[in-house]
Amino acid sequence: MEKELPPGLRETLERAARSNRMVLVLTGAGISAESGIPTFRGEEGYWKVGSRNYQPEELATRKAFTKMPEEIWAWYLHRRSVCRRAEPNAAHGALVDLETALGDRFALVTQNVDGLHRRAGSSAERLFEIHGNIELTRCSEECTGAGRDALAPLPASISLDWPRGKALGEEEKRLLRCSRCGGWARPHVLWFDEYYDEELFRSRSALALVEEASLLLVVGTSGQTTLPFQIVLRAASRRIPIVVVNLDESPFSEHALATGGADVRGKAAEWLPAICARLS
Ligand code: OAD
Repeated sequence: MEKELPPGLRETLERAARSNRMVLVLTGAGISAESGIPTFRGEEGYWKVGSRNYQPEELATRKAFTKMPEEIWAWYLHRRSVCRRAEPNAAHGALVDLETALGDRFALVTQNVDGLHRRAGSSAERLFEIHGNIELTRCSEECTGAGRDALAPLPASISLDWPRGKALGEEEKRLLRCSRCGGWARPHVLWFDEYYDEELFRSRSALALVEEASLLLVVGTSGQTTLPFQIVLRAASRRIPIVVVNLDESPFSEHALATGGADVRGKAAEWLPAICARLS
């Protein structure tokens, strides 16, 4: 059953719906939690190499990839198989319906690399995947330059079912190579020791969206990365309402309250259908 929205939140959403400005949505791992994808900072994130356990922050780095590309690829192929097994949930679906209703007055910035927004039906032009997409690769040597035309899908013959701990075989070692220079291909994801970039991740464009927005909806993120933080701070300084939907308190909760938005504690799949329906 659709959630009943508090009257204050209902009015805020209806006001944004009536304005002719944009609704900007920012999502994080929490929106995919009910699809069965573990959140980034939740449990189950570690990975074993030899006898050592690594945290994602240690593995999702250029430094680790340079030292042990095969192990990092095995980790990503496992994560990709978890993403592929998952199905978009009601929260992803509600955002697709909202986009259908608002058209160019809608934009979606996601930190998720799981591809579930795309698979739910969000359109590529209004979707800003600021941390990349696990289905894409590019040359780790950057022989093709740093533009988006450097991106290639993972080879189709690589198994979608990659158990935890399975090592690369000779076939994958051959396939996960740049077709031009023969160097290692790498996952097209932003690593912890790398910087946001416009050409590869449309990061500047994503931040600029805030200037056009009449409301910012923030869903399922712990607010630990810099670009999402800047987006929220910019929205707060413009004093547009920020509506946060998160299971736990987040650094964005206080901005939600200060801007006359709302800090909704709960599951994205339960709240987004009602919130998006009001915004439509
Ligand atoms: P986190 O795992 O840090 O945070 C997920 C948030 O979602 C937490 O605040 C949870 O309380 C909340 N949450 C969990 N289940 C939820 C549900 N069903 N409904 C609503 N909220 C829920 O994930 P992110 O904030 O997305 O970046 O992490 C941001 C970035 O940190 C990642 O994209 C990754 C990492 O650095 C890179 O790899 C560059």
